[in-house]
Amino acid sequence: MASIAVLLALRRSLAFAGEHPSSLDQWTHGLLDIGDQVSKGQMTVIEWQERVAILNHSVPTADLIKYLDLENLTGDFTFFNRLASTVDVVMPEHVTPLIPLSERNWFVRVFAMRRGGVILPHIHNNMVSCHLVISGSFHVRTHDRIKDLDDAVVLRPTMDHLIKAGDVITMSDQRNNQHWFVAEDDRSQTFDAGVIGLKASWPYGLKADQNTIFVDVDRTEERDGTIVAPRMTFLDCAEKYAADA
Ligand SMILES: [Fe+2]
Repeated sequence: MASIAVLLALRRSLAFAGEHPSSLDQWTHGLLDIGDQVSKGQMTVIEWQERVAILNHSVPTADLIKYLDLENLTGDFTFFNRLASTVDVVMPEHVTPLIPLSERNWFVRVFAMRRGGVILPHIHNNMVSCHLVISGSFHVRTHDRIKDLDDAVVLRPTMDHLIKAGDVITMSDQRNNQHWFVAEDDRSQTFDAGVIGLKASWPYGLKADQNTIFVDVDRTEERDGTIVAPRMTFLDCAEKYAADA
């Protein structure tokens, strides 16, 4: 097995330092507003998925790159392994007060990787998220989570195609819960927005570690088109899906 040090992804946090035109400030308000609504149960997770997709499709990618000051945030990433390097984006203080990540139920984060880089196959409990491609392209594979078994999950394939800058993938415990990205270009990046701590839409049979469960989706299809994907540890999943060649 590759060493743990090599498998660990780079993660850091930087203060917001980009430009902030009013249209992007409105987009930030919209993002925070629907996050607030879904966390209070005023919107279903499916409604959140539909709303966030419309919202993120409305933002020109080039404007978002400037707004997020992306070059400053990820420009010096070296991609020393095939796992994603991440940075938590701090929204401008005139739009939302600075609240430590540990004290809020939402996040905004950039995932960046080299060609062949991987966001490992995984599912989430009590969470919704949206992935907006801001540069490069990805082979994305998603599944609906049909039911949980003792140490595995039954999944039904939903997407298996290429996505590029401007495309949006969303997930919840109702739709596309499993997501797996493989970068097709160097410096492929997604802007992710998510809400955690949500009430489960249905009674999960598997407990998550920090909302996340890694799964082995490289399985033969059952006769009904589903797959049974065993739960994996992070290290085993990284070894199988992101080991250096
Ligand atoms: Fe995820």
